[in-house]
Amino acid sequence: MSLLRIAFGVVSMALLIRGRAATCERFDFREYWMCPEYPHLTCREIKKLEIVEQIAQGTVKNVFLAKWNDYRVVLSTLTSEEFREDFHHNIAMHQLLDGPFTVRMLGSCGDSIVTEYHPRGNMFSAMPSLNDTLEFRFPMCLQYLRILKFLHSHERVMCDSNSLPKILEQFLVSNDGRLLLNDMDALPRKQNGVVRCGKRMLDGEFVAPEQRLEAGYRKGYDEMTDMFKAPHVCDFILGEAEHAIWFRYWLFDVNKQCKSQDPKLRPSAKKLMRDYLEVWEDYQKDTRSESGWI
Ligand SMILES: Nc1ncnc2c1ncn2[C@@H]1O[C@H](COP(=O)(O)OP(=O)(O)O)[C@@H](O)[C@H]1O
Ligand SMILES: [Mg+2]
Repeated sequence: MSLLRIAFGVVSMALLIRGRAATCERFDFREYWMCPEYPHLTCREIKKLEIVEQIAQGTVKNVFLAKWNDYRVVLSTLTSEEFREDFHHNIAMHQLLDGPFTVRMLGSCGDSIVTEYHPRGNMFSAMPSLNDTLEFRFPMCLQYLRILKFLHSHERVMCDSNSLPKILEQFLVSNDGRLLLNDMDALPRKQNGVVRCGKRMLDGEFVAPEQRLEAGYRKGYDEMTDMFKAPHVCDFILGEAEHAIWFRYWLFDVNKQCKSQDPKLRPSAKKLMRDYLEVWEDYQKDTRSESGWI
């Protein structure tokens, strides 16, 4: 091999290593997605993680901030034997649904799971600190619908959703303002076209009517339960700024369809996104013409 070729090889190898280091050295999640070899923690590494502090105590998981090679990661462990099935369902869902809509799992070992850390925390607690312009909030609501569309394309229904705070706590907000589904303990797959959330019919104003009825429980229900609840989530995301309150009136008719007692009359996540976007365009035209833009 000529000296020139050897020199070329050495230089390109150095560039490759530098390039990888540049995208992988910081454990920031945006860069992390570009990272060709994202870390996978082995059982040994998970057992040696240094706990920094407890972030939360959920029903199924104890959640800790931990340190791995100077990177902050999240270690979640099973709270109690009775939730082992849910805990492992979550791990399976991370494997199945891994991608831009879910929090990255970095490894699992027995009754422990390690995920990337998102300092902003869940959607419920993060929202007040986020930009409250409609231009920022509305796309976030669309993103929520996009995640529903993704779950429904996998025939999954969000069962951990008996109240608004419950839904909001299952999503995290990344540093760059993206919504990511984090808690996937209760994402059953439709069987013969239906699911049942839990072992009995549910209670409360927030759940879909078919989840409350005895007959509904016997027959089962489907992803349209998520569509019944979707306007409440978007409502929360839009916030209380003056423009948001106004824009809500514009969404009223579309939202009314989501609240149909008959699940078949509710729009799919894909349709709702389209309808919301149409309303958004009309709203933009209207506000622009009012302010003399057109
Ligand atoms: N990767 C993470 N980064 C930041 N906060 C997290 C992370 N994972 C969980 N949390 C926090 O812990 C809470 C509970 O986590 P979750 O997985 O929903 O537990 P449970 O299954 O017990 O409900 C979340 O609502 C969020 O506030
Ligand atoms: Mg949870």
